[in-house]
Amino acid sequence: MLSPQSTEVIRATLPVVGAAIGDITTLFYRRMFDAHPELERDLFNRGNQKQGEQQKALAGAIAAFATLQLEPDSAKVDLILSRIAHKHASLGITPDQYAIVHEHLFAAIVEILGDAVTPEVAAAWDEVYWLMAETLITMERGLYQLAGVETGDVWRTVRVSERVLQSADTVSLTLSSVDGSALPTFAPGQYLSVGVILP
Ligand code: HEM
Repeated sequence: MLSPQSTEVIRATLPVVGAAIGDITTLFYRRMFDAHPELERDLFNRGNQKQGEQQKALAGAIAAFATLQLEPDSAKVDLILSRIAHKHASLGITPDQYAIVHEHLFAAIVEILGDAVTPEVAAAWDEVYWLMAETLITMERGLYQLAGVETGDVWRTVRVSERVLQSADTVSLTLSSVDGSALPTFAPGQYLSVGVILP
């Protein structure tokens, strides 16, 4: 839970941060991808980056989480975090990457909001970020353990053994292992990230 002091600062600054979320998000990704081109090349969906809407998911989720901290509703919080953790686990996100996102997200917040980010405001949003990040890191560790893989070690090469066009924009792919060994089981509706080599 957020400290009472941070709760009041978040309540007072949420409208300003919320209104600037679009600008903060754009600057955050630009900064992060300049410093870590491998994340843009190999991790984030480039189509989503071009299209822009998905970009808002990360910073938007932090603002949504901050809002929920003002009126704690743990069932809702768990639902939001669990979905994000499942998405992250499907991508092999690792704990050290949270410090990278933190660095560039907070630099973007300071650049966009300027003097409004007093040390007190920065500390309160820092608390929100790490509260969320630490919960996600713990959930993701649990998912890796459940799948029996090392943290972040989720990628494997598979063969597409069948491809069926279901409709104009839906394709079913049947995947098999390359060496004949059994593939892991899956839960209905689980995220399955697909990595392909792009130019
Ligand atoms: C507290 C920190 C974070 C929050 C609140 C957050 C939030 C989110 C949300 C809401 C989504 C969309 C989930 C969905 O589609 O259902 C997402 C996706 C994603 N996140 Fe995070 N995230 C955080 C940290 C990170 C970190 C540290 C990384 C790694 C650098 C990361 C990489 C990704 C990627 C690659 C996607 C898929 C987006 C795409 O490819 O278009 N996130 N995240």
